[in-house]
Amino acid sequence: MSNILILAVETSCDETAVSVLQFQGNDLTILANEVSSQVKLHAKWGGVVPNLAAREHVKNIVPIFKLALKNAGVSMQDIDFIAVTEGPGLIPALMVGNNFAKTLAYLWGKPLIGIHHIEGHIYANFVREMTNDKFQMTKAKKLMTLKANEAIFPVLCLVVSGGHTQLVLMKDHLKYEIIGQTLDDAVGEAFDKVARILGIGYPGGPVVAQRAMEFPMTNDQFPNKSQKSNSKSKEYEIQDTRYEIQFPRPMLNKQGFNFSFSGLKTAVLYETKKHPELLSDKKYIAAVCHEFQQATIDVLIAKTLKAAEKFKPKTIMLAGGVSANKELREQMGAAISKSIPNTKYCIPDTSLTGDNAAMIAAAAAFRWQKMNESQKKKALNGWENLQPYANLKLK
Ligand code: KG4
Ligand code: ZN
Repeated sequence: MSNILILAVETSCDETAVSVLQFQGNDLTILANEVSSQVKLHAKWGGVVPNLAAREHVKNIVPIFKLALKNAGVSMQDIDFIAVTEGPGLIPALMVGNNFAKTLAYLWGKPLIGIHHIEGHIYANFVREMTNDKFQMTKAKKLMTLKANEAIFPVLCLVVSGGHTQLVLMKDHLKYEIIGQTLDDAVGEAFDKVARILGIGYPGGPVVAQRAMEFPMTNDQFPNKSQKSNSKSKEYEIQDTRYEIQFPRPMLNKQGFNFSFSGLKTAVLYETKKHPELLSDKKYIAAVCHEFQQATIDVLIAKTLKAAEKFKPKTIMLAGGVSANKELREQMGAAISKSIPNTKYCIPDTSLTGDNAAMIAAAAAFRWQKMNESQKKKALNGWENLQPYANLKLK
């Protein structure tokens, strides 16, 4: 059984990431997964500034690369091939990773393949943590792919990140059909914008989720979970006054599997304009975050189940940064086991939901496995044409 070592580089947005992955049979082992986040740098702008991101990548890429090799306990000679995110993403940011990976390929005479960022997020689902006492390298995690012969296809994957919201149907490995997507904002983007409206920090997803958790859910407000999602009137007691906060569930009753989140974000803006004096009230912020998050989750679950009814997937997966959201993970799981209990439900490990290079290496491992000799030769000799694409399509 051949043992392949992959070095992957990811710089599509605001994380500089390098990973070393070992691929043996059906086992994927992460030997190193280093991520340097720029969140603090971009926080004061309330979003990622592309040129600042690129400058940080230039600063961090070599130290992160050296750390990844050190923690993996390997050198460049040991690496069989290199993978890099070629898009989509911010062009100045992608250029740093692409140039770095090409330089490594040139200097070390290694094959290089480009990977779609969302394909990486999806393949974060195919790695599973395994306990292995003999595995002693620091920071290393032994992971295993879903078994190659396990009947998982068709897979319906709900991709929810800062830049994407898509329902992707996979009839087999590396075969993608986008059956629905957002017509405007991505879910993560909506979380970030809502956090900015409320002035509660950046990135919005984790802070909105955190504040939503602070919402006091009393029995008389939400006697049970199903009522929580479906109840028409949402009353919140704030400063001894009962407010009704009710946001729309956009596109819920529209045909097809597309989404729209910009109206929901605008509804939050109008709500806060009605009560600017409450923006300093923690309970009010918690109530708005809770209702916004629930509106988002209601739509994501309803559309996913509707798509499942039509396409009858064996497996439903979540992917992307927003798949870290605990309520989404739990409520989606509950909805699937209630209405389609024979469908498998797969969510990525929370250590792999955000941008990282291990997910890029995982997707690359499956690509490599499917490549014939001439394609592998092209990866060795034809990588000079590789270039970043801001709007690369998943296909
Ligand atoms: O996949 P990702 O790391 O980067 C892109 O490819 O865009 O996703 C980042 C997005 C951000 O918008 C962030 O606010 C959101 O994921 N996010 C969350 C949570 N953690 C991160 N959204 C909701 N709940 C979370 N717990
Ligand atoms: Zn991402």
